[in-house]
Parts: sequence; C-alpha cells; structure tokens
Amino acid sequence: MTPPRSWPLARVLAHRCGGLLAPENTLAGLAAAAEAGCGGVEFDVMLSGSGSPVLIHDETLERTTDGHGHVALTRDENLRALDAGTWFDARFAGERVPTLEEAAARCISLGLSVNLEIKPAAGQDEETARVVACRADHLWAGAAVAPLLSSFSELALEVAAQLAPHLPRGLLVDRVPPDWLQRCRRVGAAALHADARYLDRPTVIEAREAGLWVATYTVNDPARAQTLFDWGVDCVITDWPGVVRPAVTQHRS
Ligand code: G3P
Ligand code: MG
Repeated sequence: MTPPRSWPLARVLAHRCGGLLAPENTLAGLAAAAEAGCGGVEFDVMLSGSGSPVLIHDETLERTTDGHGHVALTRDENLRALDAGTWFDARFAGERVPTLEEAAARCISLGLSVNLEIKPAAGQDEETARVVACRADHLWAGAAVAPLLSSFSELALEVAAQLAPHLPRGLLVDRVPPDWLQRCRRVGAAALHADARYLDRPTVIEAREAGLWVATYTVNDPARAQTLFDWGVDCVITDWPGVVRPAVTQHRS
C-alpha cells in the first residue's frame, strides 16, 4: 500500500480555536492559538436560525454565551448581540459568536491551517453540510492550504463530498468502530479522526497502510502526544497548543 500523502495541516491543532487559552470558538481563540506558536486550529460550525454558518459547539446558547435557546432558532441579528467571552473570563467580555466568514479571514491572515468540523444541529445534517462545504470552498479559494472538513455525521460528509469534492474530509469517531475503514471509504474520507482515549497503535498502522491520515483528539499531555506521533498519528488536537506543540519534534519516529 502507498503511504499517505503528507498531512496538509499543522500537526498540532488548537481545539475549538484556542483550546483553553481563550473562550472556545471565538476570534480571540484564533489569536491565542497563533500567539502560542500553533500553526492550525480545529473549530465547530453550525447553522444559525438565519441559515448562516457560525462557530459554536453546543446546539444551545447557555454554556458559551449569555443567550438562551437553540442556535438553530436564533436569527443572526440576535446571535450577533450575544457575549461569547465573559463566561470564560471577564477579560474576554464582548467576544462574539463568529461567522464562518470572519473566522476564515482571520485564519488566512494569521496563517492558521484549519480543521473545520461540520457540527449539524439535530436533523440539519444535509443543510449544514451543503452550506458549509460551499462556503468553505469559496472562502478558502486561493488560500495556501484548504480546510479539512470533518464530522461525526457521515451524511454531512457525503454531502460535502458531492459539493466540494476537492476539500479533504475526515470521519470523526469517538470509539473506533469495527467497520471504520468501510465507513471512511463510503464517505471518501482522507482521514480518520478518533478520540485519543480509545485509539490504539494497530488501528493507526492499519489506517496509514490503507492510505488514510490519522488525527486524534483531545490530547493535552505532551508525553501522550509523543507516543501518538511515534505510532504514526499525523495530527493531535489539543486544548494546550503551546505545551503540546514541542511533541512534534521530540517524538522518536
Ligand atoms: O474534532 C475533534 C473534536 O473537536 C471533536 O469533539 O465535541 O470537541 O467537537 P468536540
Ligand atoms: Mg470539534
């Protein structure tokens, strides 16, 4: 089997924009990742009630903003008025829920490569993937590195494959299911993105022999990151990019 092409993104990605350096899925997080010397980020994208792609993890607003209710039922003008920073630290008061447009522009200007996680609200897999794939294709046109689209939703990945076939895709799983390779093949995934707690060395080797990249989350211990890189993992997603980043050069293979 041919070894995988080289992983196109940074090998250490800050989780949800800036990991735990800043409120998740915010522009401040992107700045924090860049400041920590991290070359790339992962973030989550969902549709607002106006159908706009925005960066947010939960389907509801309460945990990471001062708003209430469902993201999918909140129109853009109301989403824009929310504070997405104070819950994390008063220093971040006034941070907003970014649009995908804002995040793309900031990532390109900061030189951050992107793993864009398509995070559909329940029942919105197709629509979310349709909007996100088309918008991402447009926003990163001409950029040095295209974003890699990942999702736990295989339906979302299938839609993305149809609409933006040249953007690489990653199948997200927590525990690696027994039929992971067939699933990756079915959605045309170039990468397997697995929870590091359940990933094992034989799976990493098998995936790489099958020509897939392997990314893993959420790795906050540099020694664990080194072990994963030793196994052949291409990328770790971390809450502590500055701490974990040196593991890229310190691993043994
Ligand atoms: O993409 C890796 C990771 O972000 C998946 O889990 O819940 O943090 O989006 P979650
Ligand atoms: Mg995510």
